[in-house]
Amino acid sequence: MGIFDIDKTANIIKNEEILSYDYVPKVLPYRENQIQEIANSIKPMLYERSGRNLFIYGAPGIGKTASIKWVLRELSENTDEVIPIYVNCWNLKTKYFIFSEMANQLKISFTAGKSAEHILQQIIYKLKNKRAVFVFDEIDKIDDSDFLYQIVSTFPTSSIHLISNNFEYVTKIDSRIRSRLMLKHIEFKPYSLNEIYGILKERVRLALRKDAIDTSLLKQIANITYNKGDVRVGLYLIRESAKLAEQEGKRKVSKEHIKKAMENVLDKTLEEEKLNKDEMLIVEIVKEHDGEVSGKLYEIYKKKGGELSYKSFKRYTKNLEKLGLLRLELTAGGFKGKSTRIYLNTH
Ligand SMILES: Nc1ncnc2c1ncn2[C@@H]1O[C@H](COP(=O)(O)OP(=O)(O)OP(=O)(O)O)[C@@H](O)[C@H]1O
Ligand SMILES: [Mg+2]
Repeated sequence: MGIFDIDKTANIIKNEEILSYDYVPKVLPYRENQIQEIANSIKPMLYERSGRNLFIYGAPGIGKTASIKWVLRELSENTDEVIPIYVNCWNLKTKYFIFSEMANQLKISFTAGKSAEHILQQIIYKLKNKRAVFVFDEIDKIDDSDFLYQIVSTFPTSSIHLISNNFEYVTKIDSRIRSRLMLKHIEFKPYSLNEIYGILKERVRLALRKDAIDTSLLKQIANITYNKGDVRVGLYLIRESAKLAEQEGKRKVSKEHIKKAMENVLDKTLEEEKLNKDEMLIVEIVKEHDGEVSGKLYEIYKKKGGELSYKSFKRYTKNLEKLGLLRLELTAGGFKGKSTRIYLNTH
């Protein structure tokens, strides 16, 4: 068999897009209340009344962006009266870039080099006699929230939605802008284990071939996801383990595939969470000596040049457990009574 010959019967993934992070599913279970609240803030505009402004907050990966996009999609499918504008501020830290992005979405063409004020004037012209929903996702990434004052005073009857991981953000907005905005707060609480399982099960049903992953394995993925709190972890593990299984020509995902995918996720977490060098070293050592007792791991750590005291080393391992990277297990045995075995957290 040549390297590009493919065996289509071994395909596990029916539709990879469904496992991507930006995919907005047709139904978003467990977020009905928040979706209703978001819709309620927009609905008055359909009757030519003023919309409400919202501050939407909650931990990463729990459906804030998905919910807002879901509502905006419904809105644009149902009416042309209210214009949805969604801006992710992550890479657009300044007023100029934000206004440019809004203009692009409104299909306003402008030549480079125009000022932010000029672009805003064109937006105002385009939205004349119209109402809009302005969503600013990841608003805490913005350098200066002053532009919000311009938006709220120029479009007083529209709806402005700010989204952030960080509840504190709202307290940092200039009080002049805050009092003008009169934000209603909407909290997204973390999902329960059952909810995570429900969400992942539905995504698997749509994305993978039937029976490609056993219930017990999906439960394991749901557990890992629940510990991390971010649904993206589950989507990642499903996608990567299914790919690994496909590469091996298998028709089903196995425990080993998940374990391997988990190692990749660990590498990613290391980068993302910016662990310090001791934490990284400890995780590396546990990776190589999974399930070893903590005293022995400390010896290896010292040999590799680690400088922490044993007491600090233990504190570090506890922290890494909190981050969901390691699992500590107290054993009855051990030389001087109890000892702790340390594992990579793959369950
Ligand atoms: N209730 C749900 N049903 C189906 N999928 C969901 C649900 N909640 C979240 N997801 C999925 O989880 C992933 C992450 O969700 P989302 O992007 O909305 O997170 P977020 O809360 O905006 O996180 P962040 O604060 O990091 O931006 C997305 O792929 C999304 O489709
Ligand atoms: Mg988001």
